[in-house]
Amino acid sequence: MNELDPWAQSSVEDYEKLIKDFGMQPMDEFKSGYSDLRYIRRNVIFGHRDFSRIDESIQKKKRFALMTGLMPSGRFHFGHKMVADEIIWFQRKGAEIFSCAADMESYLMRGVSFEDARKTATEEYLANYIALGLNPDKLTFWFQSDYRNEYYRLRDMLSKKVTFNELKAIYGELTTGKIISALTQAADILHPQLPEFGGPRPVVVPVGADQDPHIRLTRDLAQRFNEEFKFVPPSATYHKFMSGLQGGKMSSSNPQSFIALTDEPKEAAKKVMRAKTGGRATVEEQKKLGGIPEQCMIYELYLYHLIDDDKALKEIHQKCKAGTLMCGEDKKHCAQLMEKFLSEHQKKRAEAKKQAEKLLKKR
Ligand code: TRP
Repeated sequence: MNELDPWAQSSVEDYEKLIKDFGMQPMDEFKSGYSDLRYIRRNVIFGHRDFSRIDESIQKKKRFALMTGLMPSGRFHFGHKMVADEIIWFQRKGAEIFSCAADMESYLMRGVSFEDARKTATEEYLANYIALGLNPDKLTFWFQSDYRNEYYRLRDMLSKKVTFNELKAIYGELTTGKIISALTQAADILHPQLPEFGGPRPVVVPVGADQDPHIRLTRDLAQRFNEEFKFVPPSATYHKFMSGLQGGKMSSSNPQSFIALTDEPKEAAKKVMRAKTGGRATVEEQKKLGGIPEQCMIYELYLYHLIDDDKALKEIHQKCKAGTLMCGEDKKHCAQLMEKFLSEHQKKRAEAKKQAEKLLKKR
């Protein structure tokens, strides 16, 4: 069986197998209804748990919430943008948004100071969320290290209904920090349903597949505390991960593997020009055999972010495979789209940063 470890930064190769091994559901049945989200339309969001509950809330215009968290341990890059786009999309579908800076987790698991975490969370994460279109007036944002009493009470209560051995079975080798991080994350996800935060209602958690151990634990805990709190088991959607610019993993600790949303647009364009493509060794071969878009980081950038029009994307795919589009030309096109996106985004971000700071002062 495929092991999922939320702290190992493992890459997940085989999403179909994941669905089978862990009992997630494929996203297929919701594709046509939610094709307005690029990530659903293009199978980037490949699986879910209990999404029908969220579907129903959206269709019947009933209350529901979205909960998400980010470890403030690095720059905000295009991998994070995908999650931000998902959050914004759900907000527009009517979700109340709960979003945390997982600064306790980054302190315990990555050694990030609370001060650094606060700066990163404000300037990188929150400011970029808002610049991408998140409405800050309909947002509950908090730091795991500095929040309300009911949340900490819940976190501690949760420990009563999960044994050490169960945690071991889910997470493998345990440390005290892992236990606290896992229970804190469960409290992140469940506390919106406490009476002080709006009461029981469906909550969707959009995550990468690596976070599934937390989702499974939290869903079990929701059930075990059913009598006290009437929690609705939280739903989840699972997205694939973007690759790094050189292939392999995108990693916050390797700046050459990602483009940050605050990268200088010209520098970002250069990173695009250096990215790995699915091109052949020589132009002759490329003309004869065609390229391999499935192995191309440029194509991934289009697919996830830079080209929303399916027809335009398909055309590039076809030309690449037919050997009529060469990598150099394609990279230039991508670099232009990147530069344009970043310049426009960064203009919005300047204003968004002020809003982010205001939001945090208000708390
Ligand atoms: N563990 C997540 C990460 O590694 C961050 C996180 C904390 C989170 N609380 C959450 C994610 C609740 C989803 C829901 O980035």
